[in-house]
Amino acid sequence: MARFDGLTAVVTGSAQGLGQVFAVALASSGARVAGFDMADQGSTAALIGPSFEPFTVDVTDPDQVLRAVAAVGEAQILVNNAGIYPPIPFEETSVADLRRILRVNVEGPFLVTQALLPCLRRAGWGRIVNIASAAVFAGPPDIVAYTASKAALIGLTRSLATLLGPENITVNTIAPGLTRTDTAARSTGADGGFERVAATQRVPRVAEPSDLVSTLLYVCDPGSAFLTGQTINVDGGAAFL
Ligand SMILES: NC(=O)c1ccc[n+]([C@@H]2O[C@H](COP(=O)([O-])OP(=O)(O)OC[C@H]3O[C@@H](n4cnc5c(N)ncnc54)[C@H](O)[C@@H]3O)[C@@H](O)[C@H]2O)c1
Repeated sequence: MARFDGLTAVVTGSAQGLGQVFAVALASSGARVAGFDMADQGSTAALIGPSFEPFTVDVTDPDQVLRAVAAVGEAQILVNNAGIYPPIPFEETSVADLRRILRVNVEGPFLVTQALLPCLRRAGWGRIVNIASAAVFAGPPDIVAYTASKAALIGLTRSLATLLGPENITVNTIAPGLTRTDTAARSTGADGGFERVAATQRVPRVAEPSDLVSTLLYVCDPGSAFLTGQTINVDGGAAFL
């Protein structure tokens, strides 16, 4: 029997990048996966097959989120992965830019968690995993608004862990270092950025999405019931917490 047989996971931002890899990993371990993304999820559906159900959802839109959650029905696992990280110099970041980043990276996880919570409560247990960023610990100068948004996500994790611990629902953060995805290559990874970041790591090579999978599966595992409120920094040892 696979470790997530009979369980349902909601993964946001599952059309590509890390979210797609997470969706594939959970499905390969037996879960039914509901993918919430604004973008077309055809390539994820093709990789996974019938145990993947795509929902066209903007995670910042409460009505869309509620409709998708109602359609999913039952779930035990939520991976809040959808996020944006436009590289905008601090001096040029407008209030509109800041609000857009906070909206997707903080409001999105807040709304999806709130909407899915009744499902986890009905199940009698649950796993909520928020994908933040090791930027919170490194403090890179070129993504100030993004770093602030991911620090907020860690705060969300900790308070929710306190709220939901008595109900057997764990809430944890995974904080990846710079990892090779198409979006990362277009933004922070451009102009040798991948190699620059890799040189700051104890494991001095560029991270691949597959480097995050074992941590995700560990945190989501039904057996990881005593692990909550934590931020697991998967950054090749760039920062020691
Ligand atoms: N790749 C990295 O280096 C890295 C490092 C640390 C943290 N992260 C975090 O990991 C997550 C995934 O990063 P990625 O590199 O795979 O990004 P990506 O751009 O490849 O994928 C993000 C996905 O989220 C979706 N999305 C964006 N806004 C949405 C919204 N409002 N509603 C629904 N879906 C939305 C996009 O359509 C896309 O499919 C993000 O939260 C990012 O901040 C990435």
